[in-house]
Amino acid sequence: MTSTTQGFGIDIGGSGIKGAPVDLGRGEFAAERVRIDTPEQSTPDNVIAVVLEVLRRFEWDGPFGCTFPGIVKRGVISSAANVDKSWVGVDLEKELSQRTGQSVTVVNDADSAGLAEDRFGAAADVDGVVIVTTLGTGIGSAVLHDGRLLPNTEFGHLYLHHHEAEKYAAASVREEKDLSWEHWAERLQEFYAHLEFIFSPDLFVVGGGVSKKADKFLPLLDLATPIVPAGLRNDGGIIGAAFLAAERAA
Ligand code: BGC
Repeated sequence: MTSTTQGFGIDIGGSGIKGAPVDLGRGEFAAERVRIDTPEQSTPDNVIAVVLEVLRRFEWDGPFGCTFPGIVKRGVISSAANVDKSWVGVDLEKELSQRTGQSVTVVNDADSAGLAEDRFGAAADVDGVVIVTTLGTGIGSAVLHDGRLLPNTEFGHLYLHHHEAEKYAAASVREEKDLSWEHWAERLQEFYAHLEFIFSPDLFVVGGGVSKKADKFLPLLDLATPIVPAGLRNDGGIIGAAFLAAERAA
């Protein structure tokens, strides 16, 4: 069911692998997404098998985009904080192209979500410096300046109190440590205040599954920069990947 206005995106995450056809004009899903748990052993072979299964469920046979929760340079994975370490060095773009015979674009998950927010979401009408962060298993980041992405920023690995920020303030930490929203917001305050001082952004956008509950923690933050929930909720990864893949294929 490939058509010129549809693309396909897959989002590889620490807990789930999700995919959907995307209406590229509107920047929204063209059909309900599929989600399959990330295999306990998140090795390249196991994860790639799930990616292929997601494509198969939609019988997708066109170019597609795929996110990865680590640094991606020219399709090659060079960090794997929340998935199996054997990913480092894998050319995921090449692996997926060879197995599907399609043109594949692989991109960092937060960069993909950031681009989608810039094109279709909360940052659509904003010029200047926009920082998109995703709060999930880890913390992902994307920096855009007038709509152009600076790829592979890794703000989740900045140090706060001798911890990497994502080990201190990710949404997964709130859940594991059963932190109150107030307590978690204190941690987020430190993180965003630090970013604000260093980058002087014009807007912060907060994505990840927890952005659905933004009203519980964003009003508790005290920043000079506006901070808003992601307009595309947790779908930006899929949408951005589909968009980038279509752009490249064109
Ligand atoms: C990774 C990033 C990723 C983020 C969100 C971090 O641990 O280093 O590349 O974007 O998690 O998945």
